[in-house]
Amino acid sequence: MKYSRIVGTGRYLPEKVLTNFDLEKMVDTSDEWIRTRTGVERRHAVADDQTTSDMCVEAAKVAIEDAGIDVTDIDMVLVGTTTPDLIFPNAATLVQHRLGIPPCPAIGMEAACTSFIYALTTADKFIKAGEAKCALVIGAECITKIVDWTDRNTCVLFGDGAGAVIVKPSDEAGILATHLGADGQYKELLYYPVGASKELHKAGTDEAAITMVGNEVFKVAVKTLGNVATEVLHKAGVEQSELDWLIPHQANLRIIQATAKRLNLPMEKVILTVQDHGNTSAASVPMALDVGRRDGRVKPGQLVLMEAFGGGFTWGSVLMRM
Ligand code: COA
Repeated sequence: MKYSRIVGTGRYLPEKVLTNFDLEKMVDTSDEWIRTRTGVERRHAVADDQTTSDMCVEAAKVAIEDAGIDVTDIDMVLVGTTTPDLIFPNAATLVQHRLGIPPCPAIGMEAACTSFIYALTTADKFIKAGEAKCALVIGAECITKIVDWTDRNTCVLFGDGAGAVIVKPSDEAGILATHLGADGQYKELLYYPVGASKELHKAGTDEAAITMVGNEVFKVAVKTLGNVATEVLHKAGVEQSELDWLIPHQANLRIIQATAKRLNLPMEKVILTVQDHGNTSAASVPMALDVGRRDGRVKPGQLVLMEAFGGGFTWGSVLMRM
């Protein structure tokens, strides 16, 4: 066994849809502004009583069926999320129990919008080391629960969802290269000011809301997403012209267009979901992968580059053959 390989995918989107026109009634914005500045047209939002692990379970069921495996085959669960149900147990442990997966390592990965790429990279290493034979890897987010719905600078950007993949050992490629990074010097540009050991008393108040310097985030995102893409291509000895698909984090259409341009990739080779999902943070890449596979664009044997960028800043990329 030389590689790890994604053998099944699934996604879950909450029922409730908020269009840009709905947001026009909530804050001083317009459909035209949101579409032209971000590419977002609509986003899904969880119900009040719905949690991240609820969405994980639904997305995982679809991925498990797609992979043709049984829950008892799974020997590792990783959930990338910034919005876990609880501080502990972690979301992966809740998912393990709720799906009836036998006791196994259950890891919560927290790297903002890059959390899924961090989780998939970790699964890849466990599988290559022979420590896992069937990993359930999920990116999921209830980001609408931590957004300030009176702040037009941020509330128009985000949405909820979950994307899941099943990863198994394989003699055939498979994941070819991964690259992760983070630099905390950018913390002030994008962060959530409440945590378990800091400012917990602000939870549930107006002070608990995503804080972002949008245009600065934009600049670093474009530069970093170009670099992380070339980094994995270089590691794998692959030319960017060989790529069949780019599946980027779906934060903003203009960021995606700028990244594709830097890679000399036509937009026809980019899977886009930002218009329908908004920025779903950790869920955006696995959901976009699932969309591309299920509508028949992403085919077995094709070369796919997934990449993400998020608060911290954190970043990461995975190059793989489907
Ligand atoms: N509707 C209408 N006007 C809005 C608005 C909204 N929803 N949000 C901001 N504006 C206004 C601003 O107040 C500002 O007005 P002013 O010029 O009178 O001060 C104006 O639009 C321009 O703001 P600016 O922030 O310069 O716009 P922008 O072109 O940079 O677009 C973002 C804003 C947030 C869409 C863009 O910066 C972005 O996408 N950044 C990256 C964010 C991101 O991806 N974060 C997650 C990373 S994982």
